Amino acid sequence: MTDYSQTIIDLGYIVASILFILGIKMLGKPERARMGNLVSALGMLIAITAVLFECCLSYEWVIAGIIIGSLIGVIAARTVQMTAMPQMVAVLNGFGGIASLLVGWENFHSQPESNLIVRVAILLAVLIGGVAFSGSLVAYGKLAGRISGRPILFKGQQLINAAIFAVILICSAFLIYHPSGAFAYVVFLFVMCLSLALGVIAVIPIGGADMPVVIALLNSYSGLAACAAGFIILNNVLIVAGSLVGASGLILTGIMCKAMNRSLANVLFSGLKAGGGSKATAEVQGEPKPITPEDAYYILEAARSVVIVPGYGMAVAQAQHAVRELGEILENNGTEVRYAIHPVAGRMPGHMNVLLAEANVLYEQLAEMDDVNPIMETVDICIVIGANDVVNPAAREIESSPIYGMPVINADKAKTVMVLKRSMAAGFAGVDNPLFVKENSRMLFGDAKATVQQLVAEFKEN
Ligand code: TAP
Repeated sequence: MTDYSQTIIDLGYIVASILFILGIKMLGKPERARMGNLVSALGMLIAITAVLFECCLSYEWVIAGIIIGSLIGVIAARTVQMTAMPQMVAVLNGFGGIASLLVGWENFHSQPESNLIVRVAILLAVLIGGVAFSGSLVAYGKLAGRISGRPILFKGQQLINAAIFAVILICSAFLIYHPSGAFAYVVFLFVMCLSLALGVIAVIPIGGADMPVVIALLNSYSGLAACAAGFIILNNVLIVAGSLVGASGLILTGIMCKAMNRSLANVLFSGLKAGGGSKATAEVQGEPKPITPEDAYYILEAARSVVIVPGYGMAVAQAQHAVRELGEILENNGTEVRYAIHPVAGRMPGHMNVLLAEANVLYEQLAEMDDVNPIMETVDICIVIGANDVVNPAAREIESSPIYGMPVINADKAKTVMVLKRSMAAGFAGVDNPLFVKENSRMLFGDAKATVQQLVAEFKEN
């Protein structure tokens, strides 16, 4: 390859890296998020093209891989339900992890006498990639309901994790100094198996409710594994992209832990708290007060200020368009309408923002939890639409509750609360919600979309 061609390829890598960074930055604002995705995808296209020009490959395999991979990707992305997105992200993280592990395996096999940095990178790609792969498969199984979402705990779990990790470190140290020969290869395969086992054992004790945090962390691992793979094959754009994924996954993990008022160690090692292992049932006493859409109409009609709190149920019911229509009707009626978004409402970061943006709810109407809580006492009606855990006052009031300490939207402090859901069932954390039986609460039972449509119809008829 001429110097000139290499310069063009390097330029392609730099442009791709800049587009990745710009794309991630654009994801920070809902109205620019779609464009951010496209910008990052363009960066990836440029990166892949540059790699294909740089490497001397048998292109028939590459083209076959691109066609098969693209077909699977397009079908999966088009058919996946919005509510199943976290599972899909888990699987994609897993693929990233296994790809890096395979790069490490192939290079250990083909260049045992590589330099120290490459040998360390190979072992890191195998260790982190293996944990990301098997951990992501367990996370997928838990979220898709294929294995129990409850924390699976057994005695001495953390000790076993620590022992496996220690054995991996010892074997890796051996491999760094004795990388060739049949025995070294057996030790390498042993490290690979232990890494896969570590991913399973590390994720299995974590409850379903904490899976989003785990997925963000595994996403970060898959990025770090890719970064290590970049050092193995000396590809700068892979190092940059891997570092970006690694860093952004870690930042997201931190944000989610903060939103739940939990430390990462608490999420990873205290399976008892996660996934609704216990309930606050004993503390929830009282009867719910059901109302009809007609009753709700009369209450809403007189309201001067309304805060709408959407949650997972709004996503399940696909009620966002009906909710926006109700919001507009209320505003035309002279009511001030705001939408309060909890950082972990729904099943993935930004879930509610995406749905409300899709329904063209104005960005200025969205309020964050910290902005809306101080004024909640002045709000006439808080309409809770398919939200549960994120408005559960037990997080503030009941010390024995598994979600005690998690910041929540103080819906119960509004003058009146209307809760739209189908039953008295608990939310994702499996914890009963005293909000539903509070004096100022009214329950509007039914599918969120159907109920909101009935409310809209009431306004139109009257
Ligand atoms: P949840 O606490 O899970 O509650 C959702 C509620 O929606 C349920 O109580 C359910 O009650 C109701 N619902 C379901 N389908 C409905 C429908 N068709 N119409 C009306 N209501 C319906 O949701 P949340 O308040 O949004 O809290 C999110 C929870 O998920 C938190 O525990 C969070 O930690 C966890 N989580 C978050 C994420 C992220 S990153 N956002 C990811 C995974 C998990 P009924 O069955 O009675 O209708």
